[in-house]
Order: sequence, then C-alpha cells, then structure tokens
Amino acid sequence: MKIGRLNHVGVAVPNIAEAIKTYAELYGATQATEILDFEHLGVRVAFVTLENSQIELLEPFGADSPVHKFLERNPKGGQHHLCFEVADIIAARDHMVAAGATVLGTGEPYIGAHGVPVIFIHPKNSHGQLIELMQEPTR
Ligand code: CO
Repeated sequence: MKIGRLNHVGVAVPNIAEAIKTYAELYGATQATEILDFEHLGVRVAFVTLENSQIELLEPFGADSPVHKFLERNPKGGQHHLCFEVADIIAARDHMVAAGATVLGTGEPYIGAHGVPVIFIHPKNSHGQLIELMQEPTR
C-alpha cells in the first residue's frame, strides 16, 4: 500500500461563509465551491482552491456532527484532518486494519464530500492527527 498525493487539508470552522471570505480577502483565493450540506455526514462543506492546495472547510450540520466536538475544544476552528489519495480504498483499509490501526465508523469506506469512497484513521494511530484516505479521483 502506497500513500498518494495530499488531496486536501480539512479545516473546521464555526461559520463557513465567513471562512470563504477570509481565504478570498486575506489570502487572495479566487476559487471556492458552493457550500454544500451533507446532512447524513453531519457537515456543511466548501472547498477553497489555492495555488497547489485545496482547503476543505467544514462546518457542523446537525447536533450529531463529528465536527461539533472538535469546535467545542477549538471554538474558533482549526486544522481538522489531512486527506491523502490512495489507488485502492479497500486495499488501503485492509492494510490499515492489518497494521493494527483503527478505521473510524463501521470500518467500511463510504462516499465522502468529494463523491469518492473514503475512510478515516483514528488520530491515536498518527500522533494526534486525524487522517482521511480517499479513493483517487479520476483525472
Ligand atoms: Co476531507
């Protein structure tokens, strides 16, 4: 199993529209997607595209949001996860499990905000860093 490109950095924010404005006005980001509500994932998401990076802005959506707890600990928001691409999400999941890492949720890949299957690896396995692995998008 080989980790591919860094796809995006996830950043939790209390107000996604404000955050888009900040990346545009303070950092000159010219591209941001619309804000999309993923009720079943408990998040509102927008992607801001910069020179060689993409920031995934996450705002909690609903009471059960996984981002809700993060914002309780970090009320102003902050860096939430890193997302790397993998060629085969099932092979990557099997590798993680075999290596003793904890895959969050059911342990099965599910369709994330990018429309491709993803898994999340528990922060305890990566020095406090939540890691998302996503099936490589077709380019
Ligand atoms: Co992500």
